[in-house]
Amino acid sequence: MRSSSLLLFFFVGVSGVHGGSDFRICAFNLHNFGDSKSKKTDVMQILVKVITRCDVCLLQEVRDSKGKALPELLKQIKRYDTRYEYQAVASERLGRTDSYQEQYVFVYRADTAVLTGQYQYPDALPGDVDAFSREPFVVRFKALKTAIKEFVLIPQHTTPTNATKELDALYDVLLHVKKKWKTQNVMLLGDFNADCGYLAKKNRKHVRLITDTELVWLIPEDMDTTVRSSTSCSYDHIVVYGATFNRAILPSSARAFDFQKEYGLTEEQALDVSDHYPVEVLLRVVNSRAFGAAASMAFTLQYITFVSSMVLGHLLLHI
Ligand SMILES: *[C@@H]1O[C@H](CO)[C@@H](O)[C@H](O)[C@H]1NC(C)=O
Repeated sequence: MRSSSLLLFFFVGVSGVHGGSDFRICAFNLHNFGDSKSKKTDVMQILVKVITRCDVCLLQEVRDSKGKALPELLKQIKRYDTRYEYQAVASERLGRTDSYQEQYVFVYRADTAVLTGQYQYPDALPGDVDAFSREPFVVRFKALKTAIKEFVLIPQHTTPTNATKELDALYDVLLHVKKKWKTQNVMLLGDFNADCGYLAKKNRKHVRLITDTELVWLIPEDMDTTVRSSTSCSYDHIVVYGATFNRAILPSSARAFDFQKEYGLTEEQALDVSDHYPVEVLLRVVNSRAFGAAASMAFTLQYITFVSSMVLGHLLLHI
């Protein structure tokens, strides 16, 4: 019995090495995405290309006051990539004032990711500190091909001038969600404004999202996530909680996606799309065929062990 369990462990371990295409999670600040952007053909083409590289893509700064730009983007995504079915889930419009609101949107591939939960983190009660301009719209996905199977995403686009406080408050959201959904598998992602003038080095020790060593910041601190060649700031980030989630990440896969270089655009053309690069990370995918073979082999071994122990038991009884 012990040896077959060991073998099962071994085979599952081997099959855990990624096979096929990895699962890509992205976060993209679309910089004022609304009516006027949705009418620019070149811009939309790039957006569609970038978004369809991802299995799950968080969009931020969706400022679609007329409610037409987002449906148009989704329509063009579906038209561009007919191989897969794309779905989207969007938050309410969020913001401190009626005149400036943004939505969080998750676009995802229905064949690789299934939305299993959504939760709008509530605005502060009157009298309490209202930490966020845009409270996180938290989602949970089942992604059976990945090594992690199910995970929660907490998005955040911080207000630059309040970034330090908002990032610290995001830690409370993490604790809340872990408890609410009884999960350890949580990723926080988005335009955190966590660099340059907005998050001073001396303040970092006060941000629990940075000081808690259970959290791993995957985007390197020196990675430029801004398009402008005159700026080099690591604003956009992907952070995972816990060793299990971290093990499901393909090592060194987290990066900013330089769509300007990738698609041969001028800086001006790229800035028409956004002033941010998307950030992304790959989750290891469990090779289902190898997994199936290993599982059935292990089962067979266990069966053989079981039968032989029965036979042995019988023999012993009859001695
Ligand atoms: C910064 O946060 C405080 C609450 O902590 C809030 O009252 C203020 O409006 C925020 N500033 C901006 C620009 O959102």
